[in-house]
Amino acid sequence: MKKSAHGRYWPWPPGPGVLAGLGATGLVIAGVAGAFAYTGGLLSPGALTQTRIIDRFQAINGVHPGFRRNHAKGVCVTGTFASNGLGARLSRAAVFAPGSVPVIGRFAVGIGKPFLPDNGTEVRSLALSFRPAGGEEWRTGMNDIPVFPVKDAEGFYALMAASAADPGTGKPDPARMKDFLAAHPETARALALIRARPFSTGFANASYNGLDAFRFVDAAGRSTPVRWSMVALDPFVAQTPPPAGARDPNYLFDDLVARLDAGPLRYRFVVTVGQPGDPTGDATLPWPAGRQQVDAGTLTLDHVEAEGPGNCRDINYDPLVLPDGIAASDDPLLSARSAAYSVSFTRRAGEPKTPSEVQPPPARPAAADLPKTGGEP
Ligand code: HEM
Repeated sequence: MKKSAHGRYWPWPPGPGVLAGLGATGLVIAGVAGAFAYTGGLLSPGALTQTRIIDRFQAINGVHPGFRRNHAKGVCVTGTFASNGLGARLSRAAVFAPGSVPVIGRFAVGIGKPFLPDNGTEVRSLALSFRPAGGEEWRTGMNDIPVFPVKDAEGFYALMAASAADPGTGKPDPARMKDFLAAHPETARALALIRARPFSTGFANASYNGLDAFRFVDAAGRSTPVRWSMVALDPFVAQTPPPAGARDPNYLFDDLVARLDAGPLRYRFVVTVGQPGDPTGDATLPWPAGRQQVDAGTLTLDHVEAEGPGNCRDINYDPLVLPDGIAASDDPLLSARSAAYSVSFTRRAGEPKTPSEVQPPPARPAAADLPKTGGEP
């Protein structure tokens, strides 16, 4: 996949000589046609494009109309982010001014199969859209792993193939994975960190990491490299290995719904401040321990509902939807994600919808809304 000056994957225009003889109208038509052709990979059959990445998700997981091509099984949540104002020292984004911001979120498991039992999954995610009144929206997607397994789109595409089940055995071919890891030592190192991580019993007591580096820009224009995390306030309980098939196939989501029924879920938003030399362009690499951490506020989630029209189902949690005060880093995964999520979103938005496997019961009415007892009609 080639990256344009804008950090996107549909570079334009082609060389000036090609278009020199065309008039203004021809230029526009050629531009539009060329952009479509490039996006579809027609101009460079060997190049990696966002379309090929999404096609590979579909080849591996099947096509499930209306669902995300990755992180397909999920549930919508809403709540608020209460900023304590400490983040404003690093970023001028409206979301970090002291006060409260409405949030639309989504918990999911990291695989492209919307009906897979929860014990067949290993990565949990939390995606959030912050919507400050009068300020710009911010979207982020976070996973409960310490680093990402690949550093760029090419690595992601090759890892998908190397870890896909072999049709003959139903399992990944160990030889293919061995070859992949030999060519990608950064993935071997990252997977060792990921496998060593303690695995929480559920969504509620997991902490979620943004993994890619970003830049916070303050009111004076100073830019600071950062990574961020939502750290659970529910006490961590380790679970190894994931429970076997006997449990409820939706146990992670059912536990989450039961937990929210008992009261709101809270997370601390922690910003890790990078130092000169900390890698911002490679999400497989952790930053050194002991970096300054800024607790910028508390996320409270208090409502859960099934994916449906107009809620988190219809949001593309593109990591480059950033407000003034938060900027992309040089991490090549960011533009690759943005491009791939766009293809996934465009496909699923145009497809018929099947109800999600995760169907929380309707919220109980608040005490004040309950019908009165005591003989009244
Ligand atoms: C080249 C690398 C990657 C590719 C190709 C990729 C692909 C995808 C796709 C296709 C989706 C579904 C998008 C939609 O239809 O709305 C998705 C969702 C997601 N991805 Fe990635 N991803 C990549 C890297 C990452 C990284 C580095 C993170 C780090 C946190 C991440 C976190 C997530 C999360 C949290 C979701 C779920 C968002 C939601 O609930 O809507 N991904 N990914």
